[in-house]
Amino acid sequence: MDSIFIRRSVRKYLNQPVESEKVEQLLKAAMQAPSAGNQQPWEFIVVQDKKLLSKLSLLSPYAGPINEAAVAIVMLGNKENVKFPEYLQQDLSAATQNLLLQAVELDLGAVWLGVAPIEERMKYIMELFDLPESIMPFAVIPIGYPETENKYIDRYEKVKVHYGRY
Ligand SMILES: Cc1cc2nc3c(=O)[nH]c(=O)nc-3n(C[C@H](O)[C@H](O)[C@H](O)COP(=O)(O)O)c2cc1C
Repeated sequence: MDSIFIRRSVRKYLNQPVESEKVEQLLKAAMQAPSAGNQQPWEFIVVQDKKLLSKLSLLSPYAGPINEAAVAIVMLGNKENVKFPEYLQQDLSAATQNLLLQAVELDLGAVWLGVAPIEERMKYIMELFDLPESIMPFAVIPIGYPETENKYIDRYEKVKVHYGRY
């Protein structure tokens, strides 16, 4: 799958909206991810309003790309009624990676901005969206048409692979 190999974190975007069909396709890809016991604990907030994007970009010193993006998707985990709450972050990671790869397929650029488990960032999002305690903010993904390209960088390192024993 080419998108795995050419995906890059894209932090600069053109001043161009992202079609709602593409946003929906990104969400479909995220929800297609594997999850513990197939619990599918994810929920999403799609943010397009410029003022709200600007507030969201104050989430951390490393969240500036949100300010330039056409849209940002806030990845959330719902702790209620799940069989394996201890796996929430792994489930959300799989959904996030799916979304990033789908973005490449749609000629979009995106970057994973970490939120959980950093308490301060989680609290910022809880307050900004007035979230109930059952919801865990996991990550924010700003998305737009890329100013920088997705391109292949070889990261294969033989020394990290162990056959049969360490
Ligand atoms: C858990 C996690 C948190 C991250 N948080 C940030 C972030 O806050 N800001 C940012 O610009 N990039 C963030 N990134 C993106 C990484 O910096 C990026 O994936 C890494 O430098 C490798 O580059 P690549 O994505 O182009 O392969 C995060 C990535 C992960 C997986």
